Amino acid sequence: MSVPGSTDVDRSDPARRAWVDRAVAVVEADAHRSADTHLLSYPLPPEWGIDLYLKDESTHPTGSLKHRLARSLFLYGLCSGQISEGTTVVEASSGSTAISEAYFARMLGLPFVAVMPASTSEEKVALIEFHGGRCHFVADPPEIYEEARRLAAECGGHFLDQFTFAERATDWRGNNNIAESIFEQMALERSPVPEWVVVGAGTGGTSATIGRFIRYRRFPTRLAVVDPENSAFLPGYTSGDRDCTTGISSRIEGIGRPRVEPSFVPTIVDRMIGVPDAASLAAMRHLAEATGRRAGGSTGTNLWGAFALVAEMLRAGVQGSVVTLLCDGGERYAHTYYSDEWVAGQGLDLAPAAATLRRFTETGEWAPPG
Ligand SMILES: Cc1ncc(COP(=O)(O)O)c(C=O)c1O
Repeated sequence: MSVPGSTDVDRSDPARRAWVDRAVAVVEADAHRSADTHLLSYPLPPEWGIDLYLKDESTHPTGSLKHRLARSLFLYGLCSGQISEGTTVVEASSGSTAISEAYFARMLGLPFVAVMPASTSEEKVALIEFHGGRCHFVADPPEIYEEARRLAAECGGHFLDQFTFAERATDWRGNNNIAESIFEQMALERSPVPEWVVVGAGTGGTSATIGRFIRYRRFPTRLAVVDPENSAFLPGYTSGDRDCTTGISSRIEGIGRPRVEPSFVPTIVDRMIGVPDAASLAAMRHLAEATGRRAGGSTGTNLWGAFALVAEMLRAGVQGSVVTLLCDGGERYAHTYYSDEWVAGQGLDLAPAAATLRRFTETGEWAPPG
């Protein structure tokens, strides 16, 4: 029906809407079938009066914290009218997000293309292809954004663009986001409201969600963001320059970026901690020794930052709890971070950091190398 005498453009398309309705229902059903991820207690000496927890995001169906983001980005695209039947979905990703997005694309019967640096681990490429995705490699990592935009425009597809939309697509007020899940799972602990939550930043979406949720629910908890070598987040945060770039990729997959990504929200970050790559990998291996759980490098970065804050609380006589994330499983890094040959090839010596971790475990003292 058109309104006589006025410019009236009716684009309603019942068949298209029906497909979107079914697609949203399928994505919601996947969430309904999925159990929430565990909050693991890390073994610290009880007499310290400080408890440390790891939110184990490796137990998601696609093995990382990015399962949540991928679900949010697909719902955001579907409900914004940008994804419909037959749309080719494209993403720029260092791997984890693309693995999760390939899973949702296949669930919706949509072609998926992941644009990624040629250096991405073979394990991650295999997982994207296992979920039916196609990998498109670029030699120079900073090119992934424009190449993904170009590919999407070329095929009339949709660029999910995690780096721009991560902070927007996730409901930071609740809806079982990662922060709400953490605080609910802490409710029966001896220190239910953590002093610190410690996370890394890739898109910045996870830290944005947690920082906003903490303020929205008026918790006194502070947010610390850890950053690996060569990343622009810490220097950008320190100088206040959002255009800060390093032009160099991080060696810790999933976190640290050559530029300050649009989804990074520095105004809700209470503290940033730089973590050397050798320390990240030493902490990742320390976690496997202490708990039997193999995780990825970004979990090591988180743990190093969390230990430093626990030691600081201990020195200050502050009791309470600290929460961090186990972002993905170690099986993805068998040929890199868990390979002594690869680590040596990177010129990394993990021994000094491993000594720091042993001393911390035994005494609570924090004496980082160098
Ligand atoms: C393994 C891993 N850890 C941490 C992160 C950081 O998460 P975010 O992008 O929400 O900042 C990512 C992001 O890609 C990741 O893949």
